[in-house]
Amino acid sequence: MGIITVATTPPPDLHDLDDDGDDAVRRHAEADESSRASRHWWDRNADEYQDEHGEFLGDDRFTWCPEGLDEADARLLGEVAGRSVLEIGAGAAQCSRWLLRRDARPVAMDISYRQLQHSRRIDLARGTPPVPVVQADAAVLPFADGSFDLACSAYGAVPFSADTAALMREVHRVLRPGGRWVFSVTHPIRWAFPDEPGVEGLTAVASYFDRTPYVEEDDQGRATYVEHHRTVGDRVRELVGAGFRLLDLVEPEWPEGHEQEWGGWSPLRGRLIPGTAIFVTERD
Ligand SMILES: C[S@@+](CC[C@H](N)C(=O)[O-])C[C@H]1O[C@@H](n2cnc3c(N)ncnc32)[C@H](O)[C@@H]1O
Repeated sequence: MGIITVATTPPPDLHDLDDDGDDAVRRHAEADESSRASRHWWDRNADEYQDEHGEFLGDDRFTWCPEGLDEADARLLGEVAGRSVLEIGAGAAQCSRWLLRRDARPVAMDISYRQLQHSRRIDLARGTPPVPVVQADAAVLPFADGSFDLACSAYGAVPFSADTAALMREVHRVLRPGGRWVFSVTHPIRWAFPDEPGVEGLTAVASYFDRTPYVEEDDQGRATYVEHHRTVGDRVRELVGAGFRLLDLVEPEWPEGHEQEWGGWSPLRGRLIPGTAIFVTERD
């Protein structure tokens, strides 16, 4: 399967690609605006993201988080061999490549064409069969009902989507009964703290309960980057409302000897407050 582009948002104008000097504000952001911002931002920043994090991510490693919890050890998806797996917000599809190696049948989906080009780059460099990739918005999955046995996401799409209740329903729709949906996100408690790896990131400065999105905008007020917050309770409610059972909520601890920072994730903060929440669920 090649790259399939489905209708999401219009392609960016080149002048939109420079976000220098964007302001960070807290304000409402609709689904369309959030999707458009994500697509532009990830197209623009995919090269830098893969440069900076590619080594940690590994070409065919499935890691859930900056804490370095690997699916090879955690086995949160259960048996994957022979299973069809949808990876949502796959980036360069490192997790899907691991799944392929474990005899699963992954499809790596992402809103950013540039991220998916990095998937192709890795496949070509390794000379391995290409991971099937699809460009789409997780809010509108371009798959028939009951297409997959499993769905997963390592920090993909969920934190960037305005209507995650609808996203959960979409994942439920494309999964077969009994299929697992496992996804990692920034731990909701982090919303209350500055996204800084040092001591300044240890003092709560905002309300955990304030769901107003974090938005970076250009000088015309257009969103260039958006993150949406849900409390732990919100996430559970959205999952249960969509028809999932919560099997586990994993909060990976910062491992001894792990010194690598990732943005606001650092050994200092990781030893004191959780940085990642992994929701392990099963479709009814
Ligand atoms: C933090 S990266 C994670 C990528 C990959 N899972 C990894 O661990 O490197 C977030 C990814 O989510 C994708 N994304 C953001 N919003 C999305 C949406 N609405 N639908 C699909 N993908 C989205 C971005 O393009 C980006 O590749």
